[in-house]
Amino acid sequence: MLDPYNRHITYLRISVTDRCNLRCMYCMPKGQVTFMPREHLLSPDEIAEVVKVAARLGIKKIRLTGGEPLVRHDIVEIVRRIRAIEGITEICLTTNGTRLAQLAFKLKEAGLSRVNISLDTLNPEKFTMITRGRLTNVLDGIEAALAAQLTPVKINFVRIKGVNETDEEEVKKFCAQKNLQVRFIRQMNLRTGEFYPVEGGDGGNCQICNRLRLTARGDIKPCLFGSSGFNIRELGIEQAFMMAIRHKPAKGEINDSHSFYNIGG
Ligand code: 5AD
Ligand code: SF4
Repeated sequence: MLDPYNRHITYLRISVTDRCNLRCMYCMPKGQVTFMPREHLLSPDEIAEVVKVAARLGIKKIRLTGGEPLVRHDIVEIVRRIRAIEGITEICLTTNGTRLAQLAFKLKEAGLSRVNISLDTLNPEKFTMITRGRLTNVLDGIEAALAAQLTPVKINFVRIKGVNETDEEEVKKFCAQKNLQVRFIRQMNLRTGEFYPVEGGDGGNCQICNRLRLTARGDIKPCLFGSSGFNIRELGIEQAFMMAIRHKPAKGEINDSHSFYNIGG
């Protein structure tokens, strides 16, 4: 699939839920968060149908995101269904790591290729302040991902001004010891359109962008930093893809209809 700017679209990021068991300060809006009703979420059948069409159109790589993808009880089944689809060469997953200790081996067995895990500090109190979760759960999750060979395991460290700049060196050292690849990500803002290329990744680099996104309610989105989306239930899967491709912008602007937690970064 070629978009209007001659970029080959080969990568689909799928947000399987907007729910999360953490509340990272850079991701969730302040105050009460309203999640979408569970019955609106795409089912494993629907996700598999979308990926079949996507593969036919030239998508090779899938990333599962959230919210937190591992809060979905059918996540292992979703991976297994995607794995069976011809043309998909890589299935990755971005997670907060808190449920990986229980799930890493099952996910590997179902066909998951590798994981990215968020880790913004190694200080337990600061970790709780940033995420409202417990650091030990994530450290156990990292060990499980390595043991299950969901490798290379990549660590996402979001630089939060005035909060975790001083933790960078310690995380770097920890990652070097454990053979984890670490990526430092500048905090972005969908509303104001502040975004940056991710060091050591391809995100945020519009010229070489090869991605589309699928939201948990079935909108195919041309761009993270744009508000448009084309619903697979309203338009049909094929038509939704065609519209999304046709509307893929040269570069990102602003997205005033989503937050990170319901689009998946
Ligand atoms: N800015 C940059 N990255 C973000 N993520 C979530 N919120 C933001 C934000 N405001 C990304 C991080 C995190 C992943 C789940 O989503 O990389 O690790
Ligand atoms: Fe949850 Fe990930 Fe957002 Fe943190 S960054 S609140 S773990 S979805």
